[in-house]
Amino acid sequence: MKQEVLDIIKYYIDSVDSFDYNNIIVEMLKEIQKIDGYINDKVVEYISKNMNLKISLIEGIIKRNKNLKDKLCKTIILCTGARCMKRGSYEMLKLIEKDYTHFKVETKNCFRDCGKGPNLSIDEKIYNGINSDNIKKILE
Ligand code: FES
Repeated sequence: MKQEVLDIIKYYIDSVDSFDYNNIIVEMLKEIQKIDGYINDKVVEYISKNMNLKISLIEGIIKRNKNLKDKLCKTIILCTGARCMKRGSYEMLKLIEKDYTHFKVETKNCFRDCGKGPNLSIDEKIYNGINSDNIKKILE
């Protein structure tokens, strides 16, 4: 576990007895997620042991909070070049940000495959002609 993560947990340990412990844990997990990209099982176990909290309680907080992730998210690179935007890229961006929060979304100006857009890339594989019908199959 990174020293930065340990430092964050140490900082919050004294705060967990306060009335609003749920929000305090959420804030702590958000800070940890900024470093690791997600909340891994070792972090959950460490918090559980050192803050005397049940693992299921911490896992429940992660599941209920849309901004917290318990898996390392893949990165989607969505083309927001002019031609893809004309074909619905912006709508796909909004859809991904709303329904697929376990992905990290980045944008790129052009994949140089404009005729087949809107385009996105995951793990260096390019998907053409994405729309609200086929995106579910691509991302799930
Ligand atoms: S504008 Fe999207 S591939 Fe060129």
